[in-house]
Parts: sequence; C-alpha cells; structure tokens
Amino acid sequence: MAQSYLQPASERDIQRMWPAVNSTHLFEESGDFRRMWEVAPWRVRVSAAGDAAILRPWRADHDVLAVTALWCPESHVPRAIGDLAAVARNQGFGHLLSPLVMQDSAKLYTRAGMVEHESIVTLRMDSRGADGMRGAFPESVTLRSATPDDIPAMHALDEVSFDEFWRYGTQELSDYFVSDRAAVASGPEGLIGYTLCTAKSGIGTLGRLAIHPSARRTGVGTALLRDAIGYMARQGAEMVSLCTQEDNHASRALYAGIGMRELPDRLLLLIMET
Ligand SMILES: CC(C)(COP(=O)(O)OP(=O)(O)OC[C@H]1O[C@@H](n2cnc3c(N)ncnc32)[C@H](O)[C@@H]1OP(=O)(O)O)[C@@H](O)C(=O)NCCC(=O)NCCS
Repeated sequence: MAQSYLQPASERDIQRMWPAVNSTHLFEESGDFRRMWEVAPWRVRVSAAGDAAILRPWRADHDVLAVTALWCPESHVPRAIGDLAAVARNQGFGHLLSPLVMQDSAKLYTRAGMVEHESIVTLRMDSRGADGMRGAFPESVTLRSATPDDIPAMHALDEVSFDEFWRYGTQELSDYFVSDRAAVASGPEGLIGYTLCTAKSGIGTLGRLAIHPSARRTGVGTALLRDAIGYMARQGAEMVSLCTQEDNHASRALYAGIGMRELPDRLLLLIMET
C-alpha cells in the first residue's frame, strides 16, 4: 500500500498552522486548537509540502468522520481524500465527509470516490441597524435564554425536526452552550423552539432554528429568527449569514420572508464509505 503523504502534525506544525486555522473560525483561540490536537493528534494531518487537513467526528454517535478543513492544491485533493479515508477507517469510522465545497470543486472529490450528499444554500442579510429587532411572539409563548437544564428538551426537539444526519446529540448541544448564544421559546406544553447563534468579527451566524411540529406556522420561527438577528446586531454583527439545505423549502421561505438573500452558488457536502 502507498505510504500516506498526510502524516500526524507535530507541535511545530500546530504552531505554524494557527494563522490559517484561525481564519476558518473553527476554534476560538490557539489554545483550543492545541488542546484538540493534544487529545487526538490523528485529527490534524500535514504533508512535507505544506498540505494540511483537520478532521472531526461529525456527530458524537455517528460513524462519520468529517474533513472540516483541507489546504492543498486542487490536484492533490483526490490523494488527500484517499489518505483521509484510510485514517477514518483506522479510527473506526465507516464514512468520510467532505468539507463544504463549491459546486465547481465537487469533481475533485468525486474523483476520489465521494458522492454528493447534501446541497446547501447560503443566505445573507445586512444587519446594520437591526439592533432593535425583536421577536413578536404569540401571547402564550415566552422567550428566554436557554440553560443547561433545557438540553434534554432541545435534543428532543432536534429529533422531531431534523433527520439523523443533521440532528445534534446532547454532547454537541452542551458544547454550543459554551460557544453560542442559545434562546428558547416555551408554550403551555413546554419548550417549542430554539435558536443557536454567534457573532464574531462583525459576522453573525445562525447555527440552528427548530420549532416543534405542533407549533409551526404560528409565527414562532419568525419571532425566534428576528430575536437572534437583533441579538447578533447588538453584538456588532454587520452581516448575518446562515446555511440551509436546498430542499428545505419551509426554512427558505421563512428566511426570504424576513429579507434574507440567497447567494447564487450552492455548496455541497460529499460522502464516501471508507
Ligand atoms: C422552518 C421552521 C423553523 C419554520 O418555523 P415556523 O414557526 O413554522 O415558521 P413561521 O410560522 O414563522 O412561518 C413564517 C413563514 O415561513 C414560511 N413557511 C414556514 N413553514 C413553511 C412550510 N412548511 N412551507 C412553506 N412555507 C413555510 C411561510 O412563508 C410562513 O408564513 P405564513 O405561515 O404566513 O405562510 C420549522 O418548519 C422547522 O423547525 N423545521 C424543521 C427544522 C428546520 O428546518 N430548521 C431550519 C433549518 S436551517
């Protein structure tokens, strides 16, 4: 078997990589990147020529390993993916997931044996001046910040809102309590919706919006979205961005209704068995 050209990163590689890693916003600070590498050195791979990749289990209870970042010339992509598929297999993962790639670049990944898995739409909105935006909730619904006690109910909401590939486990939700702002909407029956969002370097990102099926089409999704946009604007976000699946027509209609603009290019996630 050919020798892998992507090898586990050394401490020096971790230092050298930080400026590039920092620009991806995958880690808050260099210490977080370093701690991840210390716990699982196999997740950061580099080549002698300076190619590099970062890997992450997609979800705690899935057999999917995701390539969250890949830096290499286009001509190296098929070989890099082949190497990373071998790493995934050795670590016990049955599947390797690509980074989010532009449609034009997808052929580099299909050449390595990957197939298209999800088509993603990116939406943006100028949020300058949106700092006064608040959600108008139905009378029986209240909004508050989430607490860790809400995690089981948020997890249950994910189970009825997303298919297995997209839904979060309780570990991911706990992690987002550290990095994101979490808000929940409750009705007489309990928790009916939640959002996760962050605002960094002038850009707000909506990471999650889910409404319980029994509470949909009553304006709660719009109200939670408006609340999140207002929050991100107050945190200094001049632009708000989010991604949704191309076939998620409900969410695309909701986002368009609030004035978000779809970017023309689709992003793709590709996957392969290892
Ligand atoms: C998408 C979602 C958040 C919408 O929440 P909601 O509370 O039902 O949304 P609202 O009641 O505020 O709807 C606002 C508008 O969005 C559009 N919309 C919402 N659901 C829709 C649907 N199923 N089909 C078409 N348009 C829809 C409509 O224009 C609606 O206005 P209207 O009811 O006056 O026609 C909800 O369906 C959901 O949680 N889905 C599963 C999880 C998900 O897809 N999250 C977003 C992924 S990024």
